[in-house]
Amino acid sequence: MPIRPLVLFVASEIYPFSKTGGLGDVLGALPLTLHRLGVNVAVVTPLYGRLKTADIPLHLMYSDCHVGYPWSPTTCDVYLADFHGMPVYFIHREEFFDRRFYYNTYKGDYFDNCERFIFFCRATMELACLLAHPPAVIHVHDWQSGLIPAYLHFWRQTGEWWKQTKSVTTIHNLAFQGRFSSRLFEGCGLPPESWGMNGVEFWGDLNMLKAGIAYSDMVTTVSPSYAEEILSPAFGCGLEGILSSRRDHLTGILNGADYEVWNPSQDKYLPATYSADDIAGKYACKKALIEELCLSPELMDRPILGFIGRLRGQKGIDLLINILPELMRLNVGVVVLGEGKLEYEQHILGMMEDHLGRLAARVSYTEDLAHRIQAGSDIFLMPSRYEPCGLTQMYALRYGTPPVATAVGGLRDTITPWPHPQATGFTFPIPQPASFLDAVRQAVALWEDKDQWAALRDRAMRQDFSWTRSAMQYMDVYRTLGAAL
Ligand code: ADP
Ligand code: GLC
Repeated sequence: MPIRPLVLFVASEIYPFSKTGGLGDVLGALPLTLHRLGVNVAVVTPLYGRLKTADIPLHLMYSDCHVGYPWSPTTCDVYLADFHGMPVYFIHREEFFDRRFYYNTYKGDYFDNCERFIFFCRATMELACLLAHPPAVIHVHDWQSGLIPAYLHFWRQTGEWWKQTKSVTTIHNLAFQGRFSSRLFEGCGLPPESWGMNGVEFWGDLNMLKAGIAYSDMVTTVSPSYAEEILSPAFGCGLEGILSSRRDHLTGILNGADYEVWNPSQDKYLPATYSADDIAGKYACKKALIEELCLSPELMDRPILGFIGRLRGQKGIDLLINILPELMRLNVGVVVLGEGKLEYEQHILGMMEDHLGRLAARVSYTEDLAHRIQAGSDIFLMPSRYEPCGLTQMYALRYGTPPVATAVGGLRDTITPWPHPQATGFTFPIPQPASFLDAVRQAVALWEDKDQWAALRDRAMRQDFSWTRSAMQYMDVYRTLGAAL
């Protein structure tokens, strides 16, 4: 039997086992799509204490696997799950991953995040040495696995095992870089020559995402527009220099939407299902959402505007808070689901009292409610200041909830803005309240024209962002690196 080249994905989240946002969704879908296209894929991820195994049994694969970080006898256990025929390896070390949250508490980041994810990277490298053959490609995601391409770069210069292995880093969000004190560089296992402006050093600190950017054979990000934007100081978060120096090895591949999970015609969380050909269920979902969130029944005759996302500056929640009083004067309903910065959480909750029956805010992370808001709303709000890709607007399109979004990053790449004849939503040029409000007004005005709205909604629902196209682009990347898939 010829050896099938292995693509080893490494990431800190994979839905349905773990998720804090879009990264989890991507890992829950992209590797599996590649697997179904015939690529030999496996995923490595931490075994969190709060892990949901989704009824998939985990089997102990290796116990006391040597890691050697942060002190030499340190080991990990490795568990294996069969996720629809694709292996998922879980790195287990209680003191690092058995916590209530993934990366931070309400008080801030865990103090030892650097050690936790250096440990994860090193454990993954050790695990990869226990496989039957070296991986053809190691594909890492975001800062949590960013050191791996650096290890690979140096270790393949000396170690036979790694000679043929190539690396890909995917940037899902440049704002999160895994930046830590230089002190933590010592002992992480990288040679001194990696400490410099072309390596892992960033203004005197250790930068784990920069390690991935500097040492990967290929760097990708999650939309073509974001791949352009991050070369400029406005979006580069200080890494525009190193990204520009690697621009020949940088490409943007648009994420997809997992229509097995996000599909109103088979969504297990909805009170009624529907599709572009049979929209009736959407009204039932709207009615149920109104009841669930104690909104005014009068809103059946007015549009409901939905927002789902992290309550942070990136998502422009402050812009929404700013224009809320104006929105209320438009006699619409607004639904917000999110958690994040305490200041925004309190602000939006406080506003509910002034707009009872019109504004419903839920400060929590509730997967099933996110589905019901997608289905029960009429218009989806996404006033992001930057958006590497954004998945919620793709879900909103499929759920017949045309988005109003900033024309930035992946939002630009997925929404055809009104008044284009093929429009699927609305965009506005700058993330400022007046600009956002103008776009919402346009959307509400169009919603009042039932025929035009039905046509726009129909086009939105028929958009196809399924993962196959993106997965095939990743296959091209792996092949360019020499992997004979
Ligand atoms: P990001 O990854 O930047 O947060 P994306 O749009 O790519 O944004 O993905 C966000 C994912 O997280 C979506 O699946 C969305 O439904 C989910 N999500 C965000 N906030 C919440 C929340 N408070 N409750 C449930 N799901 C949420
Ligand atoms: C990040 C980005 C988001 C993207 C997601 C998945 O969290 O903020 O835009 O959709 O990763 O790639």
